[in-house]
Amino acid sequence: MNTITSALERPVPSAGTPAADDPAAGLAVGTGRAQAKAILFGEHSVVYGAPALAVPVAALPAEAEASFAADGVDRLYSALYNGRLDRAPERTLPTVTAITAARAAVGATAGTTTGAAQRPLQVRVRSRIPAERGLGSSAAVAAAIVDAVAALTGVTLTGGERHDAVQTAERAAHGTPSGLDARAVRAAGPIRFQDGAAVPLLVAAPLHLVIADSGVRGRTREAVQGVRERREADRDGIDRIVGALGELCDLAVDALAEGDTATVGAAMTEAHALLNALGVGDPALDHLVSVAAAHEALGAKLTGGGRGGCALILAADADHAATLSGALHEAGAAAVWTTMVAATDPRGEAPAR
Ligand code: PMV
Repeated sequence: MNTITSALERPVPSAGTPAADDPAAGLAVGTGRAQAKAILFGEHSVVYGAPALAVPVAALPAEAEASFAADGVDRLYSALYNGRLDRAPERTLPTVTAITAARAAVGATAGTTTGAAQRPLQVRVRSRIPAERGLGSSAAVAAAIVDAVAALTGVTLTGGERHDAVQTAERAAHGTPSGLDARAVRAAGPIRFQDGAAVPLLVAAPLHLVIADSGVRGRTREAVQGVRERREADRDGIDRIVGALGELCDLAVDALAEGDTATVGAAMTEAHALLNALGVGDPALDHLVSVAAAHEALGAKLTGGGRGGCALILAADADHAATLSGALHEAGAAAVWTTMVAATDPRGEAPAR
């Protein structure tokens, strides 16, 4: 899914060779791209080892452009802040961390402490992903930045190095990220994620999803902390909920492979109730979920860190998604997006349907 400039296809500069000293190694501008993600199953429970199911949302991309700064000062240009990196406000910390992590990854791979990895950077971020809405904005922006900086410097990072750099930025965003977001924002299709590893999924029938923004800022860090505290107080009780969420995830993985979207939807609605029991819900999300139910959604739940952010709704088809979208707008959703997850078979051709 990611579009990275052709610099990544160039040979890796030999160890000890400063990439910027080789005029052929770098580009005037390196670009990177990733996308939003929606978690169908497994937010929070994934932190405790349960499986998760997430889909990329290609309609909401994040793009980054990196170039060397002519005046020797690191700078960031973004919707949140324009200016010197060393004066960036606290709320840009995940983005600033992505830039420093990208530079460190490139420096380590190039095997040098001089040259391209050390040159001041200008990074421009353009993102259509709303921040703090549980849609993976911080991970997608970080992934785009890492790829842009690598492309600029002509350094080919391994998948693991790219992932680690995004995870470094994610730690600045919300403490102890499971890695689910970092994988999903780069994924080409739906994934099952567990213990750091992502597997592409077989989807036998398309999924018509509606994402409705409650207008309430999601608070992933606090929500994750809240679940941790509940678990410290009642380990068995919370682990039972985590186990139940994991079972719903794998039920849905099997249902997706069979094209049984009704079962996927019913499992989503069950997951919403369990997430509320974990304490990560919000009345604004319950409202959107009940509006979706009143309009015969196949299922609906909160998505992402919760305590605000978005509801994810499964529609029967594209027309139904449009109807639900209108109803959710009417009911006060701050924004609504629809996205279609195509039928796909990672073992070969997409099934004909
Ligand atoms: O709110 P988001 O988009 O950052 O999603 C967080 C997902 C969690 O499971 C709550 C945390 C994690 O690290 O997986």
